[in-house]
Order: sequence, then C-alpha cells, then structure tokens
Amino acid sequence: MSEKTFAEQHIVVTGGGTGIGRAAALAFAEQGAASVTITGRRSEPLDEVAALHPAVIPVVADVATEAGTDAIAAAVQARGGTLDVLVHNAGVFGLTPLDDLDPADVRHQFEVNVFAPILLTAKLLPLLRSPGGNIVVVSSISARLASPEQSVYSASKAAVDSLIRSWAVELGPKGIRVNGVAPGNVRTPILTTGGLSDETVTTWRSGYADRAPTGRIGEVSDITPWITRLAEPTSSWISGEIIVIDGGRLVA
Ligand SMILES: NC(=O)c1ccc[n+]([C@@H]2O[C@H](COP(=O)([O-])OP(=O)(O)OC[C@H]3O[C@@H](n4cnc5c(N)ncnc54)[C@H](OP(=O)(O)O)[C@@H]3O)[C@@H](O)[C@H]2O)c1
Repeated sequence: MSEKTFAEQHIVVTGGGTGIGRAAALAFAEQGAASVTITGRRSEPLDEVAALHPAVIPVVADVATEAGTDAIAAAVQARGGTLDVLVHNAGVFGLTPLDDLDPADVRHQFEVNVFAPILLTAKLLPLLRSPGGNIVVVSSISARLASPEQSVYSASKAAVDSLIRSWAVELGPKGIRVNGVAPGNVRTPILTTGGLSDETVTTWRSGYADRAPTGRIGEVSDITPWITRLAEPTSSWISGEIIVIDGGRLVA
C-alpha cells in the first residue's frame, strides 16, 4: 500500500487517545494524512499520541455534548474546513444487570455510543467532502451476541449497526460512503475503565481465546488496517458494510 494513501486528507478520529482510536489515528498519519484530529475527554493521552506524529492534532472534547461537537467542528474549520474521513470510535462499556440497574449507566452508554455519533455526523456533514467523504464507525460483535448483564452495551452497538446502514443510504447520493468495523475482544483499556476487575478481564480474555477458532483475543493492529482500508479510494464500491474482525468468535 502506498504511504500516501491519505495525502492531503483531513481526518477526525473520536476517542483517538487510547486503544483502537489511537492506533487508527497513527495509521492515518503514517499513510500521509495532512491532519488527524483526535478527541477525548482527557488531554494527557491525546497529547501523548500527538507527540508521536506532527499530523496528529489533539482536541479535548466530550463527543456527547454540543460543546464537544462544536469544538471538533472548529478544529476542522481551522485546518481549511474540509473533512475527508470521520471515524466514530469513542465508546464506553459497562455492565448493566437488570436487577441492579443504574439508569445513569444506561443513559451514559447510549449518550456516548449512539447519541454522540449522531450529533457529530450531523454537525460535520456540511464539512464532509461531497462527493468523496467517508464515515467509518466502530461497532462491536456485541451487537449480534446475547450476553448477560451486557444488554445495554449490546443494544447501543446494534443501534450503531442500524445507523451505519441508514446513513449509507441517506448519504450515498452525496457521494459519501458509510461503513463499520465490528471487533471482538481486543486488548484495550475499555473493560477496565468500564469497571471490570483485572481478574474478570483476564477471565473474559482467556474464555474468548478458548472459544475463538484463532485461539487468541485481538490486538489493535488487527483492527486498524480495516478502518483505513474502508476509507481508501480502492474501497469506493463498499458502503453500508460492517466488517466483523473477531478471530472467528461469531461463527464458533
Ligand atoms: N476493546 C474491545 O474489545 C472492543 C470490542 C468491540 C468494540 N470496541 C469499540 O471500540 C471503540 C474503541 O474502544 P477501545 O476498545 O479502543 O477502548 P478505549 O481505549 O477505552 O477507547 C475509548 C475511547 O473513547 C474515548 N471516550 C469515551 N467517552 C468519550 C466521550 N464522552 N467523549 C469523547 N471521547 C470519549 C476515551 O477517551 P476519554 O476517556 O479520554 O474520553 C477513549 O480514548 C469503542 O467504540 C468500543 O465500543 C472495543
């Protein structure tokens, strides 16, 4: 693949300070992007990623708020006002057992995982290159699995899958493609920040590795090539697709 696949392109990756978003932001930067605006609520991880590549621009922004989406739009405007690729990656996980439900957890997961990409897509749409723009959304195989105490996270990702398909149809006439990736269990901080103990995380990971035909959990490097690939011009006949990257877990 050419180093310059994303030359002169402006990219936004939400949740770009850690995990999958961090790796995706650096992959776009390494493939020649003119700017990769990364967002998150905490400045330290964003600044750490920005220190690794001059194209990466950190913007502290809570994507679930209007002030956050305004800040991201302002950052895109400051780079010339045209956005080529929007990656909705920011997401939160948490257990939501029905017999011990905190409504705030339910609201928070839907606000970040569902409401935020809707708000941000609408806000950035006037800036998204048309024709030629790309939206890539990070969903999850949880959208297709039924797991105890994870109904809210799973439902939020099922909503994301629906958004991907509907937006592909709605934005197709503008020449904007919309696709997604659906990772399985990938080694990132998300389970720990979602409140699981280290012991539980270890148990979940080994259970996943035992079940998946490939015998291991995922690494961020398993996911990011597909995020960039979907946004490349050579994928110009792919829209409304959600690529499962899960080591075979869904078929096992
Ligand atoms: N790891 C997995 O096993 C897995 C599997 C399937 C799907 N996914 C999805 O992959 C995506 C990335 O997650 P990850 O695994 O890479 O975990 P992660 O490292 O925890 O990344 C999540 C990112 O989202 C950001 N974020 C959370 N709430 C935000 C908000 N309100 N506004 C702005 N940014 C916010 C976080 O930054 P701040 O905390 O600084 O805001 C963090 O950088 C998520 O959508 C997740 O659902 C992950």
